[in-house]
Amino acid sequence: MVLRQSGVPATMTALPAAAQTPPTRGLHVITWGCQMNVYDSARMGDVLRPLGFRPVDTPDTADMIILNTCHIRDRAAEKVFSELGRLRLVKEARKTSGQSTIIAVAGCVAQAEGEEILARAPYVDIVLGPQTYHRLPEMVARAARAGGAVIETDFPAEQKFDFLPESEAPQTPGNLTAFLTIQEGCDKFCSFCVVPYTRGAENSRPVASVLAEAQRMVASGVRDISLLGQNVNAYHGVGPDGDIWGLARLAYALAEIPGLSRIRYTTSHPRDMDDALIAAHRDLPQLMPFLHLPVQSGSDRILRAMNRGHTADDYRDIVRRLRDVRPDLALSSDFIVGHPGETDEDFEATMQLVRDVGFALAYSFKYSPRPGTPAAGAGMQVAEDIKDARLQALQKLLREQQDAFNATLVGQTVPVLFTSKGRKPGQIAGRSPWLQPVHVSGPEHLIGQELPVRITERLSNSLGGILEEKKVYA
Ligand code: SAH
Ligand code: SF4
Ligand code: F3S
Repeated sequence: MVLRQSGVPATMTALPAAAQTPPTRGLHVITWGCQMNVYDSARMGDVLRPLGFRPVDTPDTADMIILNTCHIRDRAAEKVFSELGRLRLVKEARKTSGQSTIIAVAGCVAQAEGEEILARAPYVDIVLGPQTYHRLPEMVARAARAGGAVIETDFPAEQKFDFLPESEAPQTPGNLTAFLTIQEGCDKFCSFCVVPYTRGAENSRPVASVLAEAQRMVASGVRDISLLGQNVNAYHGVGPDGDIWGLARLAYALAEIPGLSRIRYTTSHPRDMDDALIAAHRDLPQLMPFLHLPVQSGSDRILRAMNRGHTADDYRDIVRRLRDVRPDLALSSDFIVGHPGETDEDFEATMQLVRDVGFALAYSFKYSPRPGTPAAGAGMQVAEDIKDARLQALQKLLREQQDAFNATLVGQTVPVLFTSKGRKPGQIAGRSPWLQPVHVSGPEHLIGQELPVRITERLSNSLGGILEEKKVYA
């Protein structure tokens, strides 16, 4: 009853009889953007599985193609239209051989530019935002019936997580790492950012649903879970006891799941880094000592203009408190150079913050005006050549820090979770607690285990090492 009221299609609830098993159809999903889009693409596959859709590797063998898009920086829409041009040819070629193809555009560009997509690319059948993909089966049915395009970019009253089928993606054998979305949306409205408009208001999944999904993942072999959210440490889910749980409390509960040896979370906001979460880093060995905590800028003036709600010293203070309880904690961050109003002095403050903190990894971007955001309409836009020069200087410093961090691991013994065969025969590969790929010589049957490795060399984007106590594993 509730399901129907919420507009969830009958197909999702009324497929019990084996006789109704639909024919198998090919589904090809192209994913751009952040890890949440990767998670969403897998969940769209779950939603479409009862209709007979199974993943295929190429668009020309697909009965349905989903383009899951990202709107975070410039030329996002143009990139979508150029990809759609390519997919149109695939659709036409399939049509001449009597096959039909549904083209769907999902994700953040779909949310922001849905009408424009249908106007410019009339061969698109479905446009859907990130909060409506639980309704995909209904949209597929409507597209087939009506023969016209279907657009679903409202923010529905119901929560999609209440209507998604159980995830099947982690059931793939050998999948040792997985993403798990626990929080979505954002109410922070940083001056430069489209996310509050494309993902909607901040919303947390209930604790029981997160724990159940984590348990299923671990039962299927997952050992390393990354909890996802646009502001993941603002998590405030309803607990089984009726209380509101923060991320720290959720982490303690997840740490009780036997076999879950690594827990990560991303992306956190400095404003939500509370004492309880810092204490969890002290108490829980499963919480990996690697934290993505974007600061964006080291200038208080620019942080204020960005509406970030903290100062550069607040950030230094959080990092100090985290390292006090977890001395091996390494940090990664995002930076934006050339936000409107950024002077040479402001940029130097960013460089100084980088020198003070020391990052193991960082992503840095030139400010890109996003339509509809406050910063896009602000005066004092920074010239492109100045942005270029600042980005180059910042990236050089960040690269040096990344290399220096990797170099500190040489000679140390670190736990490596082995996830796959290595590049060369006789090698296996895994990842360190800090996410660097690590290669060693070793037998394939060790894949799936977490073992101590002595790091012997730093390669360009990975580390090489040897298994400790080698004779035990030979
Ligand atoms: N919720 C996260 C960030 C999500 S967006 C946070 O608050 O930190 C990922 C990154 O893209 C941001 O951290 C920012 O560095 C970058 N970004 C977002 N909007 C941008 C814009 N308009 N121009 C350039 N970079 C941008
Ligand atoms: Fe965007 Fe700011 Fe929200 Fe992060 S906190 S998603 S940067 S508005
Ligand atoms: Fe991009 Fe949307 Fe993620 S804009 S970064 S796909 S939240």
